[in-house]
Amino acid sequence: MKICVLPGDGIGPEIVAQALRVLDKVGDKFGRGFETTEALIGGCAIDAEGVPLPADTVAKCRKADAVLLGAVGGPQWDTIDPAIRPEKGLLGIRKELGLFANLRPARLFKELADACYLRPDIVARGLDVMVVRELTGGIYFGEPRYDGEKDGERFGFNTMAYFEHEIRRIAKVAFEAARKRSGRVCSVDKANVLDVSRVWREIVIDEHKNYQDIELSHLYVDNAAMQLVRDPSQFDVVVTGNLFGDILSDEAAAITGSIGMLPSASLGAGNPGLFEPIHGSAPDIAGKDLANPLATILSVSMMLRHAFDMGEEADCIERAVEKTLEQGYRTGDIVQEGGKAVGCTAMADAVLANM
Ligand code: NAD
Ligand code: IPM
Ligand code: MN
Repeated sequence: MKICVLPGDGIGPEIVAQALRVLDKVGDKFGRGFETTEALIGGCAIDAEGVPLPADTVAKCRKADAVLLGAVGGPQWDTIDPAIRPEKGLLGIRKELGLFANLRPARLFKELADACYLRPDIVARGLDVMVVRELTGGIYFGEPRYDGEKDGERFGFNTMAYFEHEIRRIAKVAFEAARKRSGRVCSVDKANVLDVSRVWREIVIDEHKNYQDIELSHLYVDNAAMQLVRDPSQFDVVVTGNLFGDILSDEAAAITGSIGMLPSASLGAGNPGLFEPIHGSAPDIAGKDLANPLATILSVSMMLRHAFDMGEEADCIERAVEKTLEQGYRTGDIVQEGGKAVGCTAMADAVLANM
């Protein structure tokens, strides 16, 4: 299996290095061969080659069976030409590979209940949500877009746009995911205000005709954001557009303990999938061996499951993570007040030992 590794910026290289140790261990333990090749993306690519997504990186990703990514971005690139910002590299590779379906599973490890911000009685009801986020359309990519001036003052806009086929294919992914879970899908939109959302809702309802075994509900995004903290146990699969999915998945991350815990899979038809933590490059803790590597380690597990159909190998990683948390290992983002935190490397050491 060929994996293209894109460490990126900030904590990216640190967390990816630890995740690769876990991948190596899976290879040894299960007799699997993983061949990895590295490429530049984001700020490091801008520094080396002047663009956030060099053609060579795209070519290497296309040749691979899967892509593992750390994170991109950082304050040193916040003031450069927006057309070549680090984030454009990430958006570019998602678009190039046609990765329209972003699966962001947010579940609370029971060992981490103490790191959860919600009341214990709410936590006890369980917290296991799959955010299915549309990833190659919506306001992130809609045209026209503008950053300039009008009537003598600064003026800017973006366009939230969806074609029926884009909505239909992401709805399908959500309904299929629900079939493997508890059979419920909640579609999140803003159909009381936005035209694009009315199209969204209509098409989701229409596609649902092919999935009558699945229970479909709808929420406006403002209410969904509130319900997610009020009682997350009401949700199973949540399907939504690019921007709402970005925001709701960070919220889901916080209620499961920390953004440092949440993996993701970005999938399309025919191209290699991309696997990455949902968090960013965390410039505030970069280079200090403080980052939580579990989101990236769990992204490797998603890669094994989704890209390589290696369920047993994926289970092995997930069990090792659970055991590590059970043993009390905590990085700074999930440690209780007064508790002792370990670093990025030590956390991965513990996971390796538990495999
Ligand atoms: P962020 O996710 O990088 O950080 C938010 C907070 O969470 C910070 O306090 C950070 O220290 C903490 N955090 C994040 N990951 C952590 C981990 N693994 N372990 C412990 N703590 C962790 O979001 P931000 O600060 O808004 O963005 C920083 C940069 O990252 C920006 O340039 C942004 O564009 C970029 N970004 C990239 C991605 C990506 O590559 N997928 C995602 C989000 C943000
Ligand atoms: C994420 C990030 C990206 C997004 C940015 C960095 C382009 O926030 O992966 O969640 O908004 O998709
Ligand atoms: Mn995000």
